[in-house]
Amino acid sequence: MRNFLSVDDVEDVEKLLQKALKLKKEPFEDSALGKNKTIGLIFMNPSTRTRLSTQKAAMNLGMNVMIMNLDKEGWALETQEGIIMNQNTVEHIKDAAAVMGRYCDIIGIRSFPKLVDKLEDYSEDFFQKFVKYAKVPIVSLESATLHPLQSFADLITIHEHKTKDKPKVVLTWAPHIKPLPQAVANSFSEWMLKGNVDFVITHPKGYELYEKFTGSTPIIYDQNEALRDADFIYVKNWSSYNDYGQVLSLDSNWMLTNEKLEVTNNAKVMHCLPVRRNIELSDEILDGPDSLVVEQAENRVYSCQAVLKEILIENFN
Ligand code: CP
Repeated sequence: MRNFLSVDDVEDVEKLLQKALKLKKEPFEDSALGKNKTIGLIFMNPSTRTRLSTQKAAMNLGMNVMIMNLDKEGWALETQEGIIMNQNTVEHIKDAAAVMGRYCDIIGIRSFPKLVDKLEDYSEDFFQKFVKYAKVPIVSLESATLHPLQSFADLITIHEHKTKDKPKVVLTWAPHIKPLPQAVANSFSEWMLKGNVDFVITHPKGYELYEKFTGSTPIIYDQNEALRDADFIYVKNWSSYNDYGQVLSLDSNWMLTNEKLEVTNNAKVMHCLPVRRNIELSDEILDGPDSLVVEQAENRVYSCQAVLKEILIENFN
């Protein structure tokens, strides 16, 4: 593995899953692997879990970690080629990325979409430019369209808690007061398509995701029907892809409650966090026995550690 930007960078998802489970049992077995190697974590947006779990994963592998909130602490970056930089941007991404590539052996980046121009966001220009100019392995800490470290942690969590070989997994849209990216939902979909699960998506009309990520996954617009016999329910808000970046519904009936779980197969409930309580997901579920949200967050360490281990072995040994 050179870069980790999507599930397509993983040669064998099942093998990587088994490696992550082993690392969870023995997190320090490769503590010399990353000796004298440096990972730089570059954040253009806030983070709690991604920042801390990636740092912990790198430290478990013996790596040095440098973290920069580039949006607040660095120079404003220009991304357009050939532009006359006489406005507010101070440094071109090609110069900044090239320099960071000299300081770091691996670079992790978080850069959210602006949710204004679909073509610009879905081109993943920011990440592609880092790949091109930094010339070191790049790990997505959540891009404009995908959040693969989260989805891999979600797959690990489902594997740990499933009670049948092929569980039914439902991705359900939930209300939110602000327009959020589609990245978590896109990414979860493409990882579920690689897993041994029966996958269904439910959302109000108008919230269809990009088919590149959802493939032929059934969409059931009636949430109660979609939840029937579910083993896992993944709750997430996203803004519209077709009516790009718009909030089309604030319907609180889409918030999951214990009553809605009655038609499921004792479903476990997942969310990547942060979550707006009693808007996206009810207190009674988050504080109840069916929630896996903390387990998912814990597994962020091992999804990341498995990925960093692969990159270290394949690029530096
Ligand atoms: N789930 C997730 O990525 O959390 P953070 O935004 O806190 O990193």
